[in-house]
Amino acid sequence: MNRRALLAGNWKMHMNIAQAVELAQAVAKAGSGCTDRDVMLAPPFTALASVAQALQGSNVLLASQNVAWEAQGAFTGEIAPPMLTDIGVRMAIIGHSERRQIFLEDDAMINRRLRAALAFGLTPVLCIGETLRERESGATFRVLEQQLRGALQEVSADRAEQIVLAYEPVWAIGTGKTATTAQAQEAHAFLRGLLADMFNKKVAETIRILYGGSVKPDNIDELMAQADIDGALVGGAALKIESFERIIRFQ
Ligand code: PGA
Repeated sequence: MNRRALLAGNWKMHMNIAQAVELAQAVAKAGSGCTDRDVMLAPPFTALASVAQALQGSNVLLASQNVAWEAQGAFTGEIAPPMLTDIGVRMAIIGHSERRQIFLEDDAMINRRLRAALAFGLTPVLCIGETLRERESGATFRVLEQQLRGALQEVSADRAEQIVLAYEPVWAIGTGKTATTAQAQEAHAFLRGLLADMFNKKVAETIRILYGGSVKPDNIDELMAQADIDGALVGGAALKIESFERIIRFQ
């Protein structure tokens, strides 16, 4: 099965509008020659509309870093799916470990966000991953299974096929500590098997599974060489064009 690679930059809470537009234009230029892979950017909410304009005519996909589960209403501080599609956002990161750990989002909430995204035509980039304590106590696969099943409750196989999954071990995010390629491949293969079990083989083989956690120019090639790693979700190294361009151009 040939899955199209996806290289995604998550800018988190960085960049004002001018900086965001400048970096987005540089990424669009860097990605313009790449026809065999997808590039995605997730700027902060305040820069989305300006970046959407800056990306017009390019093939870079625009994502939000989260999405509400209702179309409108009294949800102070949240952004609804139609507000995002309205300005050209195509994808939404959901369940990032920072949302889970700092803002206490749980699997039920993440499931609601994911189903709303699908219903409004946004491609969810669902993030899951174990903490260091969970890994060290041998609970990694159990935690991944719980998060995946929780997030995909009441999602049909047809719909599930449209999501992107990101395996991001919490202990590797922003720490400079990357999972070894063997650890990452092992988790990805486990997740693909689980998807086959939860849905069917076609869904399992269609869904792109990204690795995230201290992805850098010097480890991207080895990660991308693994059978079940279909791309990367990049934080720190996506904030500079030099490093993100090298990641986009993985060999
Ligand atoms: P990092 O972040 O690349 O800075 O480790 C990855 C992420 O949180 O998606």
